[in-house]
Amino acid sequence: MAGSLDSARDDGSFFTCTNVRLGQRLFVTGFDLRHGDCLEGMADIADEAIDLVVTSPPYNLGIAYGRYSDRQDREGYLEWCHQWAAQVRRILKPAGSLFLNLGASPSNPLLPHELVLRLRDLFVLQNTIHWIKAITIENDDGELVSRGHFKPISSPRYLNDCHEYVFHLTPEGKTPIDRLALGVPYADKSNIARWGHTQGRDRRCRGNTWFIPYQTITRRAKDRPHPATFPIALAENCIRLHGLRENLVMLDPFLGIGNSAVAAKRCGVKTFIGFEIDEQYMAEARRRIG
Ligand SMILES: C[S@@+](CC[C@H](N)C(=O)[O-])C[C@H]1O[C@@H](n2cnc3c(N)ncnc32)[C@H](O)[C@@H]1O
Repeated sequence: MAGSLDSARDDGSFFTCTNVRLGQRLFVTGFDLRHGDCLEGMADIADEAIDLVVTSPPYNLGIAYGRYSDRQDREGYLEWCHQWAAQVRRILKPAGSLFLNLGASPSNPLLPHELVLRLRDLFVLQNTIHWIKAITIENDDGELVSRGHFKPISSPRYLNDCHEYVFHLTPEGKTPIDRLALGVPYADKSNIARWGHTQGRDRRCRGNTWFIPYQTITRRAKDRPHPATFPIALAENCIRLHGLRENLVMLDPFLGIGNSAVAAKRCGVKTFIGFEIDEQYMAEARRRIG
């Protein structure tokens, strides 16, 4: 069941409500998407107002965004990241979660780690998740099976880069998570009886490797008009791992074309706030949430 109520606000922001049935409960997702700089936008949000942040900032790897320049000097970039992360820390609840998606490039492999180290005075690194974009495994018949997409690198030195990080940063390192929301069945069913913590359920924690391929697209400009997105399913996993409860307030300071917003809608998050500096990406995000 879905309904919708849209209205433009005086400050130019956009608000829409969408009703989603989740199990037997009716959740209403309210969207507050603002075109503008997230540092200015977050300054207007009250302390400890946000439950959950799922975001992917620019990585300073020279990506050709529409409006933002992704080539800053390293120190300036890290300092800017510390500024927006300090705002996130201020507005996050003590038991909140920041899921920070970061990638590297073969010639710049330490950047994600440097950034997380820089944020150590603000957050505790509670979990490190590997987002696997492409993988080859051997099946039981000894056959190699490949899944997913990656950008091939032609190099005598570097491997194809098939993963990114999702750092789960929390204010105190004690944020409870819903491990079994992403749980999987045991391969060996004897484990159900072996481990007391299963309580007889055939479900175990999936672990910190998430294989989430990009969707196959044929018309880049129409289907994914942004140079650096994460899949909706990645943000959905983060939301479900943090734990779906009523009245969740979620933020993405670097909204891009709104994949985190679509995930929030699918999960029935109560309120979603997003900032994006590029008007065209923001327009696409609004189109996507319908
Ligand atoms: C890595 S992309 C995010 C993509 C997004 N996760 C998605 O799936 O569409 C980073 C985004 O941050 C935006 N951006 C850069 N500086 C910003 C700022 N100060 N405030 C808000 N958005 C900004 C860029 O325009 C870019 O779209």
